[in-house]
Amino acid sequence: MSAIRMDGKMVSAKVRGSILEEVNKLKENGIRPGLAVIIVGEDPASQIYVRNKERACEECGIYSEKYALPEETTQEELLALIGKLNHDKNISGILCQMPVPKHISEQAVIDAIDPSKDVDAFHPVNVGKIMVGNFDFKPCTPAGIMEILDEYGIDPKGKECVVIGRSNIVGKPMAMLLLHRHGTVTICHSRTANLKEVCARADILVAAVGKANFVTADMVKEGAAVIDVGMNRDENGKLCGDVCFDEVNEKAGWLTPVPGGVGPMTITMLMKNTLKAAKVQNGILD
Ligand code: GUN
Repeated sequence: MSAIRMDGKMVSAKVRGSILEEVNKLKENGIRPGLAVIIVGEDPASQIYVRNKERACEECGIYSEKYALPEETTQEELLALIGKLNHDKNISGILCQMPVPKHISEQAVIDAIDPSKDVDAFHPVNVGKIMVGNFDFKPCTPAGIMEILDEYGIDPKGKECVVIGRSNIVGKPMAMLLLHRHGTVTICHSRTANLKEVCARADILVAAVGKANFVTADMVKEGAAVIDVGMNRDENGKLCGDVCFDEVNEKAGWLTPVPGGVGPMTITMLMKNTLKAAKVQNGILD
């Protein structure tokens, strides 16, 4: 029997609808959430991501400003722009699309964004808050995965959760969110011994490796929920995830497709964080 296909597009549309409703209510009270998106250089993938972020803002009724800076922009110039946006009353959230050109320090950019406007949740203050479980912003990709799990009634409480990948953007914060929801969490990476056996224990398996077809059926427990965060190109240039879809589909209980799984959720969670930022900055707590 095939796995239940977890539809990130459907969940994303639902969440965007509820964000739009809330944004419209805020606007009635004179509050307009706004997102500033900064892109430095001409990276084609980044251009697409930024365009999609602008579109998502429109769909959710969120005001947006785009700053497209040339490749040769200095770190000082970029930090000066961020400093200005930190004090801009029209802007609730600031996002600098990564990667930035090599002559600019990614960490310096992250550190420069006011933590109350850091809708990526990359700033060390927000990373720390996630660690202790007292946070306004959830990191976008892990937050999107939690929304998908909730939509399909998959509760991490007491479950074996295995995350493959230890990046600051996905693997590490994913493990924390699952832990906050009482999962028993293991983080695997390139040096993990017995990777196959560890993965095959998982009731919830999150693959954030960045390698096409890395997760095979022998790494998956019968009936497990498998979340594929991968965005890779196969040898024919076709978009594919980290999971061997066809074979894992026959063994898993639930599976996210690529495209149409985790991808659509990430930007939606950015919208949710921008809304949250506007609320917190205006003293609205919920
Ligand atoms: N580049 C790839 N993913 C992301 C993301 O989530 N946020 C930012 N700022 N840059 C990215």
